[in-house]
Amino acid sequence: MQSDDIRAKFIAFFTDPRRKHELIQGAPLIPSETDKSVLFTTAGMQQLAPYLLGEEHPKGKRLVSVQKCVRTQDIDEIGDNIHVTFFEMLGNWSLGDYFKEDAIKWSYEFLIDELGLDKARIYITCFEGNDDAPKDKKSAEIWESLGIPKERIYFLGEKDNWWSPGDNGPCGPDTEMFYDVVGNLNLKSKEEFKKADEKQQVVEIWNDVFMEYEKKDGRIVGKLKQQNVDTGAGLERLAMVMQGKDNIFDTDLFSGVIKKLEETSGKSYTDNQKSFRIIADHIRSAVFITAEGVLPSNTEHGYIVRRLIRRAVIAKDRLGLEDSGLHSLIEVIVSVYEKHYPYLRSKVMTISRTIEEEEKKFRKTLDRGIKQFERTYNMSVGRSTVDSELSSEVVFDLVTTYGFPFELVKELADERGLRIDEDAFNRRMELHRETSRAGAEQKFKGGLADASEETTMLHTATHLMLAGLRKYLGEHVHQAGSNITAERTRFDFTHGEKVDRGTLDKVEAYVNEVIRNKCNVVIEEMDKNTAMESGVEGSFWERYPDTVNVYMVKSSDGTVYSSELCGGPHVKNTGDIKGTFKITKEEASSAGVRRVKAVLK
Ligand code: ALA
Repeated sequence: MQSDDIRAKFIAFFTDPRRKHELIQGAPLIPSETDKSVLFTTAGMQQLAPYLLGEEHPKGKRLVSVQKCVRTQDIDEIGDNIHVTFFEMLGNWSLGDYFKEDAIKWSYEFLIDELGLDKARIYITCFEGNDDAPKDKKSAEIWESLGIPKERIYFLGEKDNWWSPGDNGPCGPDTEMFYDVVGNLNLKSKEEFKKADEKQQVVEIWNDVFMEYEKKDGRIVGKLKQQNVDTGAGLERLAMVMQGKDNIFDTDLFSGVIKKLEETSGKSYTDNQKSFRIIADHIRSAVFITAEGVLPSNTEHGYIVRRLIRRAVIAKDRLGLEDSGLHSLIEVIVSVYEKHYPYLRSKVMTISRTIEEEEKKFRKTLDRGIKQFERTYNMSVGRSTVDSELSSEVVFDLVTTYGFPFELVKELADERGLRIDEDAFNRRMELHRETSRAGAEQKFKGGLADASEETTMLHTATHLMLAGLRKYLGEHVHQAGSNITAERTRFDFTHGEKVDRGTLDKVEAYVNEVIRNKCNVVIEEMDKNTAMESGVEGSFWERYPDTVNVYMVKSSDGTVYSSELCGGPHVKNTGDIKGTFKITKEEASSAGVRRVKAVLK
């Protein structure tokens, strides 16, 4: 069964008078202005959050959609059998209407009766329970009543069977359907299942979430006023099992692209699987993102699309395709999707131009990067006669600033007999990822919820707090994420241990002193390198253009209390900040990252 047919069948199944769902349009990939919590649409429920919380949806209580999604947290996994950065999610929703019984029954009927999948290859996971919610025995019972044997239903914890879109909003336990892509696994225990899952022999194809809880600031705060259902089935994975494949790249969604790559490179897919898959996946995502008007840049959506294109270009080079344009590939991708997404056809020229331009730009950067590598190489050879090592700092720089994949740096180093301390590099990357993740969640905007007067005051106060934290804790302290509303600032920063109350008091005093001193907040446009070298505070440097805005808090005698890379908005003078700054909470956020909350009282 072709992917186009799977989408159509899903919609027909749920809009059928027996199930009475209304079809709604999938949201754009770039969330609307009202939802600034994430960079990209990552799930079908995202546009439905207010309705899951209780607002009335104009189309009723039962909805169905096909949603384009982008998730980039698994970008390093691309190349395996089942991960992608762009995917389509088929979903059905109950907004305070039906619950577990119907949701599970319909999932089962669609997979087994409608698609004709083999019941003996289905495995189920349910939530095992924790302090927030009990074990989901009900879902397991329903699955059993439908004929799924007990030994194929496993209870797992929060990590696997609890779904929430972020720190705030509706959430709940889920039950997930897995399919045996080998064919005769006949697993009998949770341990066997977990091993098979790790080896991608069983693959999750659908997730039914029972959203009846609410999260606020990362904590479950109680039950919602209604019981909702939010489901998501990955189209790529359904196509894979329907087409009898064990990986998504062998499905009709990718086979044309793979074939085209074989033709243009003259290389075989089998011998170059990883590079082929990276190119196919990343260019497909880039097509969908640029189709929504995003241009490659160093910030936000543009940064993600830039990264995708650059990684694809590196993979392309490995196939010896340096000079071959991406146009023909983009053409194939559009032809696979145009039936369901007709707008792609009219944009194909713009998409091609955008992606090809970026490729050209990257080639220049790449040349610079290789030169940088050579320089470092020559320097390290000069310094050490025996056992040269490429410092983790240089490796990190090549990976994050120049966009080199780690394997490429490693190859270049190997060729020259240079060692790389992978652990040290991984530690740096981990910290960077935490920062980027927090950053991505906050849209790299310093995480301002709005531009109200209160939020703006707290934003400036947050700059001062960071300066204070750096003053009293040390220069290793950098921002790792922030979320500022009119009521409070929540701020994550890099620091390995608990900050005692005495130090927090000093930081508070620092902020309050600057507020009392009525200092001007001035914006200075600076060359990025000059800013970096002169000690301006900032995370995410690589995402900023060559000329940056530095916000400085300066007293009339010229004392600088804070200077930080930022996009604003800020108060004009710290005297405009009303109230006394107070740090109300300090806690661990993640490894090496602390979180504080603070208010103006
Ligand atoms: N929102 C759920 C998911 O993305 C269905 O898995």
